[in-house]
Amino acid sequence: MSAPPIDQARPYMTALTDELTRSGAIRTPAWGQAFGDVPRHVFVPRWFQQETNGKGITVWREHHGANTADDLVAVYRDQTLVTALDPDTAEQVDDTAWTGIPTSSSTLPSLMAGMLEDLNVRDGHRVLEIGTGTGYNAALLCHRLGEHLVYSVDIDPALVAAAQDHLSAAGLTPQLVPADGTQGYPTGDTFDRIIATCSVPAIPAAWIEQSKPGTILVSDIALGIEGGLVRLEVDETGRSFGNFTATAGRFMAARAEARTYAAPQRRERAAETDTHPSAVTATHMRTHYPFRLLLAFHLPGAEIVYHVDDSGTTALQIQGPDGSWARAPLVGDDMGMVAYGGDPGLWTQVEAAWRWWNDAGRPSHDRFGYVREADGSAHAWHIPDGTRWNIPARV
Ligand SMILES: C[S@@+](CC[C@H](N)C(=O)[O-])C[C@H]1O[C@@H](n2cnc3c(N)ncnc32)[C@H](O)[C@@H]1O
Repeated sequence: MSAPPIDQARPYMTALTDELTRSGAIRTPAWGQAFGDVPRHVFVPRWFQQETNGKGITVWREHHGANTADDLVAVYRDQTLVTALDPDTAEQVDDTAWTGIPTSSSTLPSLMAGMLEDLNVRDGHRVLEIGTGTGYNAALLCHRLGEHLVYSVDIDPALVAAAQDHLSAAGLTPQLVPADGTQGYPTGDTFDRIIATCSVPAIPAAWIEQSKPGTILVSDIALGIEGGLVRLEVDETGRSFGNFTATAGRFMAARAEARTYAAPQRRERAAETDTHPSAVTATHMRTHYPFRLLLAFHLPGAEIVYHVDDSGTTALQIQGPDGSWARAPLVGDDMGMVAYGGDPGLWTQVEAAWRWWNDAGRPSHDRFGYVREADGSAHAWHIPDGTRWNIPARV
C-alpha cells in the first residue's frame, strides 16, 4: 500500500514540528525546517504499538500504513514507533499481535531533535549515523546537509534495504551500508560528526579512528544499571571529552547479529544471606534517573532488574557480576527492608551513592562529565567538584 501524499500529512507534520519547537527539543530554524519537510509516515509504513490484550498480556500490535487520519495522528505523535521484533523472542499471540524484544524503531522525535541539535552540525559537515533503522533520521540529516554528506550503517541488511526504499521514495540517496556500526563506516572515511542511535557500553575505538580533531560524537553510553546520552569532542590526541547531555533518552543496545540479541550470560545468583533495614528504597531508584546513573558509576558491571517472587511480590533487584544481589520491595517501601545474597557490599555502595547524591544537592545527569582517553579507558566526574569514577570496560 503506498504512502498518502505529503499534502495530506502536512498539517500533522507541522503540528509535530510546532510541538517539538514549543518543548525546546527543536532549538534552531534549520532543524525546524527539516522536521517540517521530511514526512515520517514514508519511513514508517508498519509499526507495533504496545498494548495489554484481553488476557492481560503486554503485546506489540501491528499497524500498517498511514491511510486514515488516526494513523497519521499516531505517526506524527511524539512517540517511539517500534518497527522490528527479535524473531528469537517474538511469539505471535493473535492475528496481528506479538510478544518479543524490539530490535528497531523510529526514535521518539523529541529525542531525535535534541540529539541533532546537540550534534551542532555546520554546512559541509560529513556525518556518520550508527543505526539506520527506518532511515528517517538519515533523511533529516540529508535535508540539513545534503545527501552526499550523510553516511549511515545498520547491522540488519533487511532494515538497510527497507530504509533505502523509504529514502528513495523521499527522493534521497545517502550512503547506506549494512555493517556493524561499532566498527564505524566500512571504508574507514573520517567524519565531522558521529551520531549513534543504538547504545554502546563504551565509545568504540573505530569511531575515534574515523574522527578528526574537533569531531563531535553523540551517543547513548549503556553502563549496566543506567546510561545516558553523551556529547564528546575528539581532540588531536584522540581523547574525547564532554558530558552527559540535558537531552535524556535511552536506545536499544548495539548487537553483534543482524536480527537477534545474544542471550545474556549471567552468573548463578548467590543464596539469600540476610535482610536489613535501609534508608534507600526501590522508589528512590525508580524515580531519580541521575541517582541511577550515579549507581552505574559506583557499581560497574551490575544491572538492575525486576524480580517477582513465588508470592507475586515485585521488587527491584541489583545484581552484581559475581552473583551477589540486593533486592528492595516495590511496595511496603516505607519499611525499607532489603534482602541480599552474596557480598553485602553491593547494597553498601547503593547507600553510599544515595548519601553522596543527596549531600551534593541531587545533581542532574548533565552535571556529570564523561571522557574517553586515547587508550580507551574512561571515567565520569561530577563537574562542579571533580569527584571522579573510573568506568572499567564492561565484559
Ligand atoms: C532506534 S533504532 C534507529 C532509528 C533510526 N535512526 C531511525 O531514524 O529510524 C536502532 C537501530 O540500531 C541498529 N543496530 C543495532 N546494533 C547495531 C550495530 N552493531 N551496528 C549498527 N546498527 C545497529 C538496529 O538494527 C536498529 O535499527
